[in-house]
Amino acid sequence: MSLSPLPIDLPYAKDSAMNDLPLPLPPADRKTAGQALQDSLVDLLDLSSNAKQAHWNLRGPGFRSLHLHLDEIVETTRAFADDVAERASALGVSPDGRPVTVAARGPRPFPPGPITVAEALEVFATLYGALIPRMRGRISDTGTADPVTQDLLISVTAALEKQYWMLRAEDPAYDGA
Ligand SMILES: [Fe+2]
Repeated sequence: MSLSPLPIDLPYAKDSAMNDLPLPLPPADRKTAGQALQDSLVDLLDLSSNAKQAHWNLRGPGFRSLHLHLDEIVETTRAFADDVAERASALGVSPDGRPVTVAARGPRPFPPGPITVAEALEVFATLYGALIPRMRGRISDTGTADPVTQDLLISVTAALEKQYWMLRAEDPAYDGA
């Protein structure tokens, strides 16, 4: 059975008076906010996939605790990916969460195969340590352009920083600093 082509040229969308209504932001601010949201979307999708990869491949002492913790991270980051994508749509910016886009722009590859708890903690600490400054940069970028987007990014970053702390705290050598 073949699928019929997608109706990408919808006449009601073209003719609808809805299309004459203004978008929430002027073009320059929409571009700034849209870029911050798109970049955040890619980072969050990348992080959620890597957390699942580790969830499945984890080995060794401390398995159960981190295995469950990683699924909490997956759930949170997927929900935030949805939030930032839908914020982009609300601004009239098309979010791109395709695997090919994430693969092309993902910050770093995750190691394949089995991974020990200690290795996973180190990998995620490195991922979060790079991701959080990027998120904070996006918070700075969006403050003037769109405080509503900035507010969302602040919430996302607060959750990421909490996850970062919890992952680091699972390392026996963690001293809280
Ligand atoms: Fe599972």
